Amino acid sequence: MSQNTNKIMAWIDDRLPVTQTYEKHMSKYYAPKNFNFWYFFGVLSMLMLVNQILTGIWLTMQFTPSAEAAFASVEYIMRDVEWGWLIRYMHSTGATFFFVAVYLHMMRAILYGSYQKPRELIWIFGMLIYLALMAEAFMGYVLPWGQMSYWGAQVIISLFSVMPYGDLLTEWIRGDFLISGATLNRFFALHVVAVPLVIVALVVMHLLALHEVGSNNPDGVDIKKHKDENGKPLDGIPFHPYYTVHDLVGIVVFLMVFCTVLFFFPEGNGFMLEYANFEPANGLKTPEHIAPVWYFGAFYAILRAVPDKLLGVIAMGAAIAVLFVLPWLDRSPVRSWRYKGLPSKIYIVIFGFNFALLTWLGTQPATELLTLIAQIASVIYFGWFAFLVISPMIEKTKPVPERVTGGH
Ligand code: HEM
Repeated sequence: MSQNTNKIMAWIDDRLPVTQTYEKHMSKYYAPKNFNFWYFFGVLSMLMLVNQILTGIWLTMQFTPSAEAAFASVEYIMRDVEWGWLIRYMHSTGATFFFVAVYLHMMRAILYGSYQKPRELIWIFGMLIYLALMAEAFMGYVLPWGQMSYWGAQVIISLFSVMPYGDLLTEWIRGDFLISGATLNRFFALHVVAVPLVIVALVVMHLLALHEVGSNNPDGVDIKKHKDENGKPLDGIPFHPYYTVHDLVGIVVFLMVFCTVLFFFPEGNGFMLEYANFEPANGLKTPEHIAPVWYFGAFYAILRAVPDKLLGVIAMGAAIAVLFVLPWLDRSPVRSWRYKGLPSKIYIVIFGFNFALLTWLGTQPATELLTLIAQIASVIYFGWFAFLVISPMIEKTKPVPERVTGGH
């Protein structure tokens, strides 16, 4: 840096800790050197968050949030606004890729026990982000005011009617006796302003909590135990430039896949943009098959697997709530699945595939056979949490190495 730039930086640093913050979170943040493929998805989630915010701002410039004009304004964006189709598909495909990144990011935390002490708060902030993200995606889907927007909202909002004072509650959520323009307007305000603010704030807290305790790694080893004479972890490397460059590779590959879907399969065969949503909302005509977008599938499958509506809603709520307490259910003395026993390893793999199966089931019509499969899959889902509690009593873990393995 030239002397003048140095002087300007020093002047700013005396008033605002820019250099100090940059060093603390980038150039002097020591991350374990053995990060693998699974560690791309945090930064990829962040990339998708930025994509959603930017494309969302441009969509808002042309979208009309009223029951009379919303559907037509989306068609206008798709056909008449220059590059409007691209912005809209970047936003709708972006939602799917956001959830793909977040689900893989969560799976990573499960594989390596990243939620265990002292990282419980990182996980809790993550779960709050996940909840906010689901609310955000649900409200966004209502905005184009197509058939599935309307009827999807109808199904989800009616779930609240099983709660005490349910009728009052659903009326309060809708802002009307039926889903109407009032509902659309409030969902627009929440989707465009309120929830994104909450998500951004939560992501900041998530990262501050992470940098306070330091990153976990595929071995689940604490890298702060072995430091050199300058106090730097022997198994750590500065986040910048090593991981910024490393992450660029993941970003490029991810964007290649993203663009392929965006340009060639933007409807995702009806899983991302459902065909019924190309028809304007009609409160008098129920679509034949109301299905959620894929990323809600798993919880919707659990809801439907229970024959009673109230119990179904409780099961669905419990399926999400139990994730919040995961750090306290996993009693294993080791973090990473690498050092857990064989039954744990097998159940983690089954848990991942079972979640994918539930996701698919939630998007399908509920036949007798599929309902039976969903019931079994729901038991496997909850069973894993019970297994976490009892497995340390019945299973021997392998010795954890002192230092990380790999990453040389
Ligand atoms: C907008 C969504 C999210 C963003 C932008 C985000 C961002 C990040 C980033 C950049 C990291 C550090 C790099 C990495 O470990 O990959 C991280 C770590 C972590 N995140 Fe997230 N995250 C999000 C959602 C979630 C969710 C939904 C969960 C779980 C419920 C979660 C749990 C964790 C955990 C446990 C870590 C620490 C991992 C470790 O040190 O091994 N995150 N997050």
